[in-house]
Amino acid sequence: MMEIKELEKLHPKGVDFSSNAVSEETLLSRIDKLQLPKHLAIIMDGNGRWATKRHLPRISGHREGIAAMREIVTLARQLGIRFLTLYAFSNENWHRPTAEVSKLMRLLGLYLKKELKTLMTDKVRLKAIGQIDRLPKSIAQLLLSVEEKTRQNKEMTLILALSYSGRAEIIDAVFNLCGDLQDQTISINDLSETVFSSYLHTAEIPDPDLMIRTSGEIRVSNFFLWQIAYTELYFTKTLWPDFRRKELLIALLDYQGRERRFGKVLQI
Ligand code: FPP
Repeated sequence: MMEIKELEKLHPKGVDFSSNAVSEETLLSRIDKLQLPKHLAIIMDGNGRWATKRHLPRISGHREGIAAMREIVTLARQLGIRFLTLYAFSNENWHRPTAEVSKLMRLLGLYLKKELKTLMTDKVRLKAIGQIDRLPKSIAQLLLSVEEKTRQNKEMTLILALSYSGRAEIIDAVFNLCGDLQDQTISINDLSETVFSSYLHTAEIPDPDLMIRTSGEIRVSNFFLWQIAYTELYFTKTLWPDFRRKELLIALLDYQGRERRFGKVLQI
């Protein structure tokens, strides 16, 4: 393994952190703990392709995807990221073959049962967002119980987007807002971006600073439409089951190399 200084001599315009020559320890030492995204959101994509490439059934890709999920949750918490959202099941995913949907739900159930102990030890709070009432009853109840048991955990909030759609979330928010206007709980003059945000499933969760999508697809796919107005986007060709610790560190270093201006001109 080469040290960063040696690599910098070879690449005076900047180190390509994606190089296999860089170790996890070196990447970790380069992370500025004070400049981490407060909220990291991830579109986990490519499980099916990962399995197909290995002549395995798609569910093997999802199973390996869960292993990647565990690794990323642990690292995010160790680093001190406060909010991590994983897009685990979209509203559109209901249109997949029934057998795949059932297997995904079964995996989700197993994940929740197995993970509770770790969430408690690691002091991670779980929160589900999306149209949870569309999930099988047993899964919805399990989610509720894990949310309840982990409610006091303060190290990190893990948000699972399940049966989630950004547009549906906005419509739900408008629907509830109109109800409150009708009931005169709020007045039309109170309406602001902050008030509208409080009607979203992500009320009380800061907007993501960084959003990662794996598998080479360069699109947002109905995820966090309102929330990503100023989010930095990072796309990688790596398929989700292969997105492990080093991959996350590389993405974070890329993010930390960016200049966030939020539409303003930086003062010199
Ligand atoms: C996309 O892969 C992945 C998903 C459907 C979401 C992520 C799912 C997991 C990590 C498995 C655990 C499941 C739950 C619900 C916790 P894909 O099937 O779209 O891959 P492809 O685009 O290569 O076909």
